[in-house]
Amino acid sequence: MAEKIEVSGFRHFFQTEGGPVQATGTIDLSIRAGEFVTLVGPSGCGKTTLLKAIAGFITPSEGSIVCDGKPVKGPGRDRGVVFQELAILPWRTVRRNIAHGLEIARVPRVQRDATVTRLVGLMGLVGFEDRYPHELSGGMRQRVAVARTWAADPEIILMDEPFAAVDAMTRLTLQEELGRLCVATRKTVFFITHSVEEAVFLADRVLVMTKRPGTIKAVLDVPRREAGGRDWDSFTSDPVMQKIAGEVMHLVHAERV
Ligand SMILES: Nc1ncnc2c1ncn2[C@@H]1O[C@H](COP(=O)(O)OP(=O)(O)OP(=O)(O)O)[C@@H](O)[C@H]1O
Ligand SMILES: [Mg+2]
Repeated sequence: MAEKIEVSGFRHFFQTEGGPVQATGTIDLSIRAGEFVTLVGPSGCGKTTLLKAIAGFITPSEGSIVCDGKPVKGPGRDRGVVFQELAILPWRTVRRNIAHGLEIARVPRVQRDATVTRLVGLMGLVGFEDRYPHELSGGMRQRVAVARTWAADPEIILMDEPFAAVDAMTRLTLQEELGRLCVATRKTVFFITHSVEEAVFLADRVLVMTKRPGTIKAVLDVPRREAGGRDWDSFTSDPVMQKIAGEVMHLVHAERV
């Protein structure tokens, strides 16, 4: 499979009034087309910094980032980002939030409507198309944010703890939905989380970082997802999955700050 994202010799320092702050150690990373890669590591180790560099919001102090064979020089339509902080517009309905990127890209109305309808169905938002964000639950708002990024159809999706603020029950549903959506749309996904279970549940590959300045200390392969995506019932009763989750937990705990 072709490499979709190639990070080589990446290292980043932030310039502050007190001098440079080293945010990451040297990171090398390749993500294949269609792969779902999750990243776990202690707070402050540089996860968001790495994701922002791939998104094109940060210019690396050292090293290079190449997506689809082209060096990253800034944000682009090929890369959609879902941040932890909610990024939906309170004055737009669910439908118009999801369609936002498509409107900016001047996608014709008929095509826009078809995309929105498909994502509303996939994300379990049927019946809420004309509601405003304040009329939705937190989990629903989060699903709108994911659908909005998905609607623009980027080949690469970068997610930084997108479900961190969602309650535990809704989170399980969102994770299953995201898994299904990924299988259905074959996106390349880079996903940051603090939850070891979430990391293993969603991933084809889990990366574990050291404490700050972080480097990648371990890479664990997770057996292929079933055709329809994983579900939590089979995940929790699968000894192979539980063994991987145990290994990741062990690796993460060794980095506690
Ligand atoms: N804009 C900035 N200016 C200066 N230092 C920064 C800036 N952004 C991040 N840092 C520092 O860089 C390091 C890495 O930050 P980063 O946000 O990438 O960590 P993280 O792994 O995403 O942490 P968390 O899990 O808490 O989100 C931290 O020590 C942080 O203090
Ligand atoms: Mg972060």
